[in-house]
Amino acid sequence: GVQILPDAQALALAGAGADWLARRIEHKPDLTILVATGQTPMGMYAALAARVQAGTLDCSRVTAVQLDEYVGLEPGDPRSLSGWMERAFVVPLGLRNVVPLDDPATFTARLRDLGGVDVAILGLGPNGHLGFNEPPSGPDAPTREVTLTPESVASNRGYWDGLAVPTHAITAGMDVILAARETLLLVSGAHKRAILGAALDGPETPDVPASFLRRTALTVLADRDARP
Ligand code: GLP
Repeated sequence: GVQILPDAQALALAGAGADWLARRIEHKPDLTILVATGQTPMGMYAALAARVQAGTLDCSRVTAVQLDEYVGLEPGDPRSLSGWMERAFVVPLGLRNVVPLDDPATFTARLRDLGGVDVAILGLGPNGHLGFNEPPSGPDAPTREVTLTPESVASNRGYWDGLAVPTHAITAGMDVILAARETLLLVSGAHKRAILGAALDGPETPDVPASFLRRTALTVLADRDARP
């Protein structure tokens, strides 16, 4: 079912997201988490890191699973999404276990060995993508290499100063995302309002991959700009 918490402002969203995930880590210290990068969850990750540094939350047994990555970058490239996940999530939370998204077969085998994903933390692409499952992506779309749509390239341009956005990526499949036992979708800003409406209120369709999240145990944290 879908639980919508629509009244959070951007800062409250970070705190509410941190509360949501901290409760689950306290309940299951070896939680396996699919971890989105992008701007939206950064406040939440910082709020969790503050708890770890204060000694009120222990994430040392948590496993982070990478959601998406650009293809063709050299090691250490500042655009690397695995580097972003390291800096924003893995290091500040003191994690020791990471499942990188290197090639689809290895990733899929490692996830199977882990027993799948417990919790998916997701942002919403401006075209309804999840990870880099670009439209059209059906619920069975596997972990694979994809060509980014012009819309996604444009929206990712804001992540770094002046560097070109890669045109190809690898993404955890819709099958992986939808099999997560619980999902938290974070959405902020008026530019996400129409696509969030399509995802939650429109038909389930590969043209809006996020619309399939309604099949899952989904919690949506949206600020008023995104969900008035
Ligand atoms: C990006 C990423 C997603 C991210 C989404 C939203 O293109 N591939 O993993 O969740 O789009 O990004 P943002 O939170 O920056 O709006």
